[in-house]
Amino acid sequence: MARILLGVSGGIAAYKTLEFTRLAIKAGHVVRVVQTPDSEHFVGRSSYEGITGAPVLINQFEADPAGGVFQDQERPAHDPIAHLELVANCDVYLLAPASANTIAKVSAGMADNMVTALALTCRKPLIVAPAMNNDMYLSAATRENIETLRRRGVTVLDPGTGELASKGEYGVGRLPEPQELLDAVERAIAGGAEYAPRSLDGLKLLVSAGGTREPIDEVRFVGNRSSGKMGFAIADQAAARGAEVTVVAANVALARNPAVSYVNVSTAAELEAAVREHFIATDALIMAAAVADFTPAAPSEGKIKKAGREGMEIELVATNDVLKGLKDLRREGQVVVGFAAEAGEALLPEAQRKLESKGLDMIVANDIADPTIGFEVDANQVTLITAGGEPERPPRGTKSQIASVILDRVEALLRPAASQSAAEGSRRV
Ligand SMILES: Cc1cc2nc3c(=O)[nH]c(=O)nc-3n(C[C@H](O)[C@H](O)[C@H](O)COP(=O)(O)O)c2cc1C
Repeated sequence: MARILLGVSGGIAAYKTLEFTRLAIKAGHVVRVVQTPDSEHFVGRSSYEGITGAPVLINQFEADPAGGVFQDQERPAHDPIAHLELVANCDVYLLAPASANTIAKVSAGMADNMVTALALTCRKPLIVAPAMNNDMYLSAATRENIETLRRRGVTVLDPGTGELASKGEYGVGRLPEPQELLDAVERAIAGGAEYAPRSLDGLKLLVSAGGTREPIDEVRFVGNRSSGKMGFAIADQAAARGAEVTVVAANVALARNPAVSYVNVSTAAELEAAVREHFIATDALIMAAAVADFTPAAPSEGKIKKAGREGMEIELVATNDVLKGLKDLRREGQVVVGFAAEAGEALLPEAQRKLESKGLDMIVANDIADPTIGFEVDANQVTLITAGGEPERPPRGTKSQIASVILDRVEALLRPAASQSAAEGSRRV
């Protein structure tokens, strides 16, 4: 037996959820129903009340006559706030039919009626069953809203294709049949997963990774040993935490993650241009790439010939400092993290100097004197220095583990107030 909360929004297919409710009760579950005000144009509350034997909630400012509990639970002595109590008591929240409008609101985090407020408060498995006209479903807005929900861990059921509920309509957008809805609900309950929005949901991260190559001629270059593993590990972790991640990848020969966008570059100038282009829209920039400090002043066309040469000199000129150059573009609230690779005792003073001179929020210092960490290998050990904070040295770990620590600090920098309250274990409403 499960406690199923059903949220009904305004679509013609709402009629199918009467049958779903009946089937669910027949299968031994307990069902409570909430509706959007517009959904009452399609199916009135009395039908659900008759089938479930419990009041249907539509107005979030009215107390729940049933005290926020399901039919098998004891009513509390006080009148709780219904949208908090109902989701706390349910095992699963099914939004069916989910109109394009309600999907848009839920993906934007709105809570302007009972159905959307419950979705925003929900920490139980949340299932969304879109049902709408073919064009509404295929519109870019709806597709993106559904994608956003999926990224956050919401189960969005694929609608069926064929005749739609409204007369003469055909295409994709049909609400799954009542038994299919029940199967989806039972699968979600069996999985036992809690629906938890991920910690970087809604945020954009820009990561630079790899090492630049500055051409001497069309064959040779001045490069460095950075493999891109650290930057890619940060990007993978950030995507797993829900961020929209763009990686500016300089000569990285590693597998790409389909959840991440990549911009491939080669030289320091190309990397700078790509970072500047994407920086404006980003919430946090993590500059893990090793960017050349110098570039040949006049790269030769073709391949420089050896014949007749005793040796050669290459004149190098300084490249732009990418991080310093971003100061003029920087918005308030943007977090910027740099990396410093230095050997031995020079590491921390040099990292501190870079942190201050480049106006960074945090710098990740790598000691390149230790061959077992850093370049090309999977392990790493870093020191993290934040502006005004004490240096922190997390334990040595895989690049993935170090990426996780770096992102924890980035999250704290992005959301100082939220991190504080999470640390205090405060209750979310
Ligand atoms: C006859 C009619 C049928 C509709 N059918 C649907 C539908 O199947 N799916 C949908 O997303 N919107 C449909 N709409 C539009 C929604 O009802 C409208 O966007 C409404 O504001 C949704 O509000 P809600 O999301 O708060 O329930 C329909 C509108 C009308 C007038």
